[in-house]
Amino acid sequence: MARKKPRVHIVGTGTIGEPLVYLLTEQRKEIGLGEVSFYKRTPLVEEVGKVKRMVEVGAVFSAGEDKFPQFKELGLHPMLTHQQALERADVIIDCTPEGNKLKEKYYLALSQKYPKKGFIAQGSEEGFGVPYVWTVNDKCLFGRFIQVVSCNTHQLVCPINTLIIKHEGIENLKNGKFFIARRGSDISEDKVNPGVEAEAAKEKYRQYGTHQAYDAARVIQTLYSRPISIPIHSQIIKVPTQYMHTMLFDIEIKSPIHYKEALARLEANPLIVFTNLKSTNRVFDRARNTSKARGRILNQTVFYKPSLDVSEDGTHIRGTCFTPQDGNALLSSVAATLWLLDPATYKEKMKVFDKFLFTEVV
Ligand SMILES: NC(=O)c1ccc[n+]([C@@H]2O[C@H](COP(=O)([O-])OP(=O)(O)OC[C@H]3O[C@@H](n4cnc5c(N)ncnc54)[C@H](OP(=O)(O)O)[C@@H]3O)[C@@H](O)[C@H]2O)c1
Repeated sequence: MARKKPRVHIVGTGTIGEPLVYLLTEQRKEIGLGEVSFYKRTPLVEEVGKVKRMVEVGAVFSAGEDKFPQFKELGLHPMLTHQQALERADVIIDCTPEGNKLKEKYYLALSQKYPKKGFIAQGSEEGFGVPYVWTVNDKCLFGRFIQVVSCNTHQLVCPINTLIIKHEGIENLKNGKFFIARRGSDISEDKVNPGVEAEAAKEKYRQYGTHQAYDAARVIQTLYSRPISIPIHSQIIKVPTQYMHTMLFDIEIKSPIHYKEALARLEANPLIVFTNLKSTNRVFDRARNTSKARGRILNQTVFYKPSLDVSEDGTHIRGTCFTPQDGNALLSSVAATLWLLDPATYKEKMKVFDKFLFTEVV
């Protein structure tokens, strides 16, 4: 008898969950998946269209059994209870801000009952599992729990990995300074923030500044078997835009390199896309018009090319990058899912998603 195709269940249908439902459902045949289901927690009249569209592309709608009557009143028909979907799935991708809480509530017990099941959480859910960024620390994946780190951590790790770790190694990093301007809210949200907001320093992140560099260091540390020094520091403010984050960096290295070499290293990474557009508004606009992934940019960073600057002595590399926060971590969730299903074939299957990557934002 043919082996049943693996099932994936996505918990949460917000900024991250919804596009992931589309990516996995629409590519499921090409990557050998069976059912892709999702859990919508709250019955909301304004989200009826969203649920319908995900069902239309073939995703299976699950809800809490107690919420079935309210969803039915809205004209929505859950096919599974959330509990059924959790039990059936081979991989569960948590796309809520409460991954660790739900790990305690559901996932740990499920993992004991079904030791082969895999679990993924998003963002800054430290302690959920191996902190992971696609193409950076794949060789360090182990176990059944993976934390796909935040969008800004993807952004921060990407140039360090591309310029240094992949070449001379982290030992060549003397000092990395990262300044992040965060978007105030997502375009899917009604929140507004009229001014620039500062962030208070936290004792926990003292060495690294904020959680973004702290998490980046956790990702990089997985690459080494002994504790290593990772001299990076981030600072952050929130700015009144809904479009994208922006990151400025100044990486100081021990062995100097030439501008041309820095550019070549960045160009060699297909997860980095260059642009000559100097504002997030314009980058966002071009992506909305040309993205093959429902307006999202799945590259880890959009690098403003004219900002690339290498000091005369070759020891400082500086630049400004735009962060497609609602897209740049999605491929890490896809890769983690496919790795949990079969570490031997996941890299080959990830090629299916190359077609969604921007090669330029013009
Ligand atoms: N937004 C970004 O750009 C971004 C980027 C990278 C990573 N992340 C991370 O991704 C995660 C999700 O963020 P998001 O921006 O997608 O959030 P979001 O847009 O606010 O959506 C959250 C979703 O999770 C559901 N949810 C919340 N608490 C839940 C619970 N206890 N049980 C079940 N469902 C629950 C909500 O369901 P209902 O609305 O139906 O109640 C909603 O569908 C966070 O960890 C975040 O840090 C976000």
